[in-house]
Amino acid sequence: MRQESSVTGSGGEYRETTETELLVRRSVGKSIPARSHPNSILFALILVAFFPLCSRSLCAQDGNIALTPPMGWNSWNHFNNRIDDETVRAQADAMVSSGMRDAGYIYIDIDDTWEGQRDSAGYIHPNSKFPDMKALADYVHSKGLKLGIYSSPGAKTCAGFEGSLGHETQDAETYAKWGIDYLKYDLCGLRNEMKEAPTPDAAQKIMIDSYVKMRDALRGTGRPIFYSLCQYGEDAVWRWGADVGGNLWRTTGDISDSYARMAEIGFGQAGLARFAAHGHWNDPDMLEVGNGGMNMEEYRTHMSLWAILAAPLLAGNDLTTMTPETTALLTNREVIAVDQDKLGEQGDRVSTEGPIEIWVRSLSDNSKAVGVFNRLEVPLSATVNFRELGFQGTVSVRDIWNARNLGPMRNSYTVTVPPHGVVFLRVR
Ligand code: GLA
Repeated sequence: MRQESSVTGSGGEYRETTETELLVRRSVGKSIPARSHPNSILFALILVAFFPLCSRSLCAQDGNIALTPPMGWNSWNHFNNRIDDETVRAQADAMVSSGMRDAGYIYIDIDDTWEGQRDSAGYIHPNSKFPDMKALADYVHSKGLKLGIYSSPGAKTCAGFEGSLGHETQDAETYAKWGIDYLKYDLCGLRNEMKEAPTPDAAQKIMIDSYVKMRDALRGTGRPIFYSLCQYGEDAVWRWGADVGGNLWRTTGDISDSYARMAEIGFGQAGLARFAAHGHWNDPDMLEVGNGGMNMEEYRTHMSLWAILAAPLLAGNDLTTMTPETTALLTNREVIAVDQDKLGEQGDRVSTEGPIEIWVRSLSDNSKAVGVFNRLEVPLSATVNFRELGFQGTVSVRDIWNARNLGPMRNSYTVTVPPHGVVFLRVR
């Protein structure tokens, strides 16, 4: 049984749980604690000997790439179709100079509109905006970062560019040859094929088969490539995303840079926590922090909620022009520590009182991250009852965004939460 050593990348340092324990926890639910009694380890060994669990992502060549949710940057939210080689290089440079790389942001993901034509042998080439994808990957890697790319299981992508239908193996080979580390695979164009299916079940099978096909093609390359499913949460993808090799699956339609849409998506994630685990995560979509459509309180809500949700932290702004306030939001070490916590337990909503919602995430040091959110446009007081959160006696409370210890407390804490804002606590 292998004890994994430390892993850097999107997650920073990681490793306490043995691979066998992880696999057993995933197969029997989460009832086996991370540090097991020797008898449970024996039990784990017996289980693994009898059940072929290695068909899923954790045993595959993608081994360590998704032990914590991915962190990086994606071109779509800010640049849309105005993305090219020069812009990607500039974002990579800014990822380093802003301190984001050192805070854990590793992936530079090119979204839709990079695709050109296929040659006579069927191999895809980038369009004129990306003269040399291999050289770009080399550049990004030279900065200590990883490069991601985008495609669709359909004939066309959402923006109408060349998709992978019928060329899955060739495309995976091409990505590996270029040095790609991450693929976002976006359903869009496959809907035409799905519409032709005689029944909804048959349509779903077409979709699932297409994700399996690309999973196998990626694995066939031998290169660890993070596999991000994007099909907007249809057919309860959280129930089958891990089985088709997804390291990540979008649970919703597209985010936009407004409080209303971010809140609709973020607070709409209640109940999905049990489907996330080491190796595969729910994805409520990329960040809008720094794009200008929300105020700082609202962006703090966005970051805090995504951290509690163990969501990917994929910045979606222009890293070359961001303000010091935006950099500070994106690189807050205590918030990132919650998102990347090695226990890998996604948090969930524990109470609502009209517009006040309390969300809690259990962390590996036995503390809990507690988000007290106010969805109203005026300040509101809220009370956190520590006993209701499972704490006994005196607790120590830290205000994460204000980086301030609030001291020992008993029973409860009453605080005023700003409009559309959050009070983000770490309680132990
Ligand atoms: C879909 C996805 C977006 C983005 C665009 C690109 O809308 O959900 O995240 O990738 O396609 O066309």
